[in-house]
Amino acid sequence: MLMNDLENVLFTEEQIREKVKELADAISNDYRNRDLVLVGVLKGGVIFLSDLCRMIPIPHSFDMVAASSYGSETSSSGHVIITKDVELPLKGKDVLLIEDIYDTGNTLRVVKELIEVHSPRSLEICSLLWKEKSSRTDIIPIKYVGFRVPDVFVVGYGLDFNEKYRNLACIGVLKKELYK
Ligand code: IMP
Ligand code: MG
Repeated sequence: MLMNDLENVLFTEEQIREKVKELADAISNDYRNRDLVLVGVLKGGVIFLSDLCRMIPIPHSFDMVAASSYGSETSSSGHVIITKDVELPLKGKDVLLIEDIYDTGNTLRVVKELIEVHSPRSLEICSLLWKEKSSRTDIIPIKYVGFRVPDVFVVGYGLDFNEKYRNLACIGVLKKELYK
């Protein structure tokens, strides 16, 4: 069982559902009469995107970009590669980037620059998790944040370790002995 690999559960399936609904309500309210396009960051953001979009009742479309910054390690390499661009035209659209976690911010910085090239009317970010770090330079403003998490390695609900644990319905802290 994947659950046995967790040190502890940070957010249960139920808590995540409530939070996603809360974010969806705020987004639906803010983007009424706009031309919303959700852009999910693969692969971590895909579970969040699929739940979130179904809780947003206003008309919108979605697309995805893929960025990769983690190899098999549990700390950011600082080197981000875009492996997939968006397919929808974003010119004049109100783009909301959907990410699983803000850690160093390197991924979102690069993805944001990529989206800006497509000339959207507006560009904001929604991240389910925000990792609390003692030192951070150059913080990218995030319009919607779900939960704050301590500076530990978390898995579940799209977040992986070596491509595993994405299918966990909850979010938890991975046992250190599994990657140390
Ligand atoms: P950043 O570029 O350092 O902000 O890292 C963002 C990406 O790294 C996220 O999209 C995740 O895919 C991955 N990541 C960062 N922290 C964690 C974690 O605690 N668990 C799993 N993946 C993480
Ligand atoms: Mg990711």
